[in-house]
Amino acid sequence: MDKLIIAGGARLEGELRISGAKNSALLMLPASLLANEPVTISNVPHLRDITTMIELLGSLGVEVVIDEKMQIEIHANTIQRFRAPYDLVRTMRASFCVLGPMLAHYGQADVSLPGGCAIGPRPVDLHLKGLEALGARIEMDEGYVKANVDGRLKGAHVFFDVSTVGGTEHIMMTATLAEGRTVMENCAREPEIVDLAECLIKMGAKIEGHGTDTIVIDGVEALGGCEHAVIADRIEAGTYLIAAAATGGHVKLKGANPQHLEVVLSKLDEAGADISTGDDWIELDMHGRRPRAVSVVVGVFPAFPTDLQAQFIAMNSIAEGTATVKETIFENRFMHVHEMNRMGANIRLEGNNTTAIVEGVPRLKGAPVMANDLRASVSLVIAGLVAEGETVVDRIYHIDRGYEQVEEKLASLGANIRRVPSTG
Ligand code: UD1
Repeated sequence: MDKLIIAGGARLEGELRISGAKNSALLMLPASLLANEPVTISNVPHLRDITTMIELLGSLGVEVVIDEKMQIEIHANTIQRFRAPYDLVRTMRASFCVLGPMLAHYGQADVSLPGGCAIGPRPVDLHLKGLEALGARIEMDEGYVKANVDGRLKGAHVFFDVSTVGGTEHIMMTATLAEGRTVMENCAREPEIVDLAECLIKMGAKIEGHGTDTIVIDGVEALGGCEHAVIADRIEAGTYLIAAAATGGHVKLKGANPQHLEVVLSKLDEAGADISTGDDWIELDMHGRRPRAVSVVVGVFPAFPTDLQAQFIAMNSIAEGTATVKETIFENRFMHVHEMNRMGANIRLEGNNTTAIVEGVPRLKGAPVMANDLRASVSLVIAGLVAEGETVVDRIYHIDRGYEQVEEKLASLGANIRRVPSTG
């Protein structure tokens, strides 16, 4: 297992190109199972989670062609099996979403219950409820969801009790091949859902209302092929902006969409950053200043994203003043706090571990640290960048799930960071 070794103290300065959005690409790959013709997805980030999803499609017998620029062509009609095995689904929650497309197109699917990041219980009850509303017969058998339908699924009214990104995406894509109209209410509105809907529309789906809380889908008999380029990764962009702000730096991110980061940019502005934006770039300049502490309440889009909560705590940990960071989406998403406290941060958890009170200290101290989820791991890298001395971040395979070439990108901005193979 590799580690990252960071010598703290450097300001991040320079230009960076933001990769394609992991969470968009991850759902477009299973969506391609709906089509009768090849689907080509470009601007796909080269990440472990994407490789896992490609492996999963491969295990179904689906032919996948990848070129050197990570343009991926999926020939879904080469499918031979309808069972997604435990070893592949357990490592990544998004892989559960092969279920609906296989069921809608081929009338059957057996998919293991998912795993994913260790951030509290992450059920799939709303996915299953939605699929059942569309007419799926579902049985649980030794950790597998076995689903089938005679003929086509049927359009239905689906209400989500909780705003769920994966649930919205899963039911939206499945309903594209159902007979009649599906109305989904209390949908999540994340940009990746909109991107997935645009891709499905290019395949011939009839979808309206994506990006609002009510999505209406008129099912079609068949979907064709398409070419689609994934949007930029707003979480990757936000991570580099927060890292730059924490180090007092100055970065320009190319390919980033400021409209997907409005709340984050306004919070960084409150922290003292000068921010300018264009259609597809964001520039942040801290002029070497220490950030001011800024409180945030995490929420569903367009509120502050849970996937940037840990990184924001890292910035607040060395900011001037005290801030409160409240998590409302996931339980148990504060494991980075204990590691940051070992680096000299002053953070306490309140409200049954839903709120972090961060009292900024002038500087953290380097230490060996690790985390067992993707965003927590990268937040420890940011902590390492603002720490005195050396920080060793272990178990960075989590970072490789979601950040393309993280050490190359940070080094290009002047960070003193290197990857070494772990001996332990
Ligand atoms: C997606 C993102 C992840 C992000 C999360 C929240 C992908 C691949 N991953 O995850 O990076 O952190 O959105 O923005 O896009 N829930 C239920 N029942 C369900 C489904 C969800 O109770 O059937 C709950 C979850 O436990 C959680 C909340 O709903 O508390 C939101 O989860 P959800 O939006 O579904 O997250 P993911 O789609 O898994």
